[in-house]
Amino acid sequence: MTVTDELSSLEQEAHAALAAVRDLAGLAEWKSRYIGKAGALTRLSRGLGALPAEQRPEAGRRVNALREQLEAAYAAAEARLKHAAIASELAADRVDVTLPGRRPALGYAHLTNQVLAQVQEIFGEMGFQVWESPEVELDEFNFGLLNFAEDHPARDMQDTFYVEMPPGAPSVLLRTHTSPGQIHAMRRYAPQPLRVLLPGKVYRNEQVTVRSEMMFHQFEFLAVGRHITMGDLKGALAYFAERMYGAGTQVRLRPSFFPFTEPSAEMDVSCFLCDGKGCRVCKYAGWLEIGGCGMVHPVVLRNGGYDPAQFSGFAGGFGPERIAMLKYGIDDIRGFYSGDARFVEQFG
Ligand code: DAH
Repeated sequence: MTVTDELSSLEQEAHAALAAVRDLAGLAEWKSRYIGKAGALTRLSRGLGALPAEQRPEAGRRVNALREQLEAAYAAAEARLKHAAIASELAADRVDVTLPGRRPALGYAHLTNQVLAQVQEIFGEMGFQVWESPEVELDEFNFGLLNFAEDHPARDMQDTFYVEMPPGAPSVLLRTHTSPGQIHAMRRYAPQPLRVLLPGKVYRNEQVTVRSEMMFHQFEFLAVGRHITMGDLKGALAYFAERMYGAGTQVRLRPSFFPFTEPSAEMDVSCFLCDGKGCRVCKYAGWLEIGGCGMVHPVVLRNGGYDPAQFSGFAGGFGPERIAMLKYGIDDIRGFYSGDARFVEQFG
């Protein structure tokens, strides 16, 4: 084969191979095979020395011309492939605007606050206004003014968190119930008739178990007026029970004792799950205990600034956690404030 033949077959082969190159890696391979230092063209030009002297200049020109031609083809292919590489990278990175968006995580009211909001609505419909009273309370308001005897067991250090105070200062504690709010509200409004709802946190020095926490919530309701009877208490409870647990829910009062009410009662509602027939939730009693209530004790009315000869009132204190636990079948109160989001998120 003459040099001319070799050159033209190399030219054809190199162009065909270049046309088949698909990416930059393939192009690098092509370069070293045809125009690299150890490539076909270099090998061919080394062979020129074997030619007769008069043919060498012409053959040398042709080799150089082919090198220039292939280098230009290489540069063009490189530019094209680089552009294609960037284009495919961009295509892979493309944002699919048709994908559904991600919902931002929204906050929601804690289960306890959901129940309290519902309670506020229901009592609001009966004309009760929401009132706040302190969590850090004088012993006198938490116990004494509510007619607790000096030696009442609830005053025990074992049951109550007392605040360390300087010697001679009055005894201060974390309220163990929302009832001291009754005294605050009465002193603010006496001798006007009043209806207040007092929701908030309460604290007890208790062993934490599935049934009891050191901190939980209560809401206290209090109505004081000139002709308030136990019938009014029962009517208010019946309305609350129907609105909270559904139409047809029955209310039952059982005699009980609290120092600040006389008479005192425990309020039960007919089990909303089994309609009073008996089931696991009501422990086959047909009734669920909701909380304490009664007619405001005359001593408490007087401590609040009302003349018990002219005024009477009813009051009660219930726990929203207990209401929620019954309603949702929650059997462990610790989930409420453990900080484990998996518990609270179920009610979001
Ligand atoms: N303070 C009581 C408790 O924590 C609950 C209670 C009972 C409140 C009877 C009342 C009431 O207002 O009349 O156990």
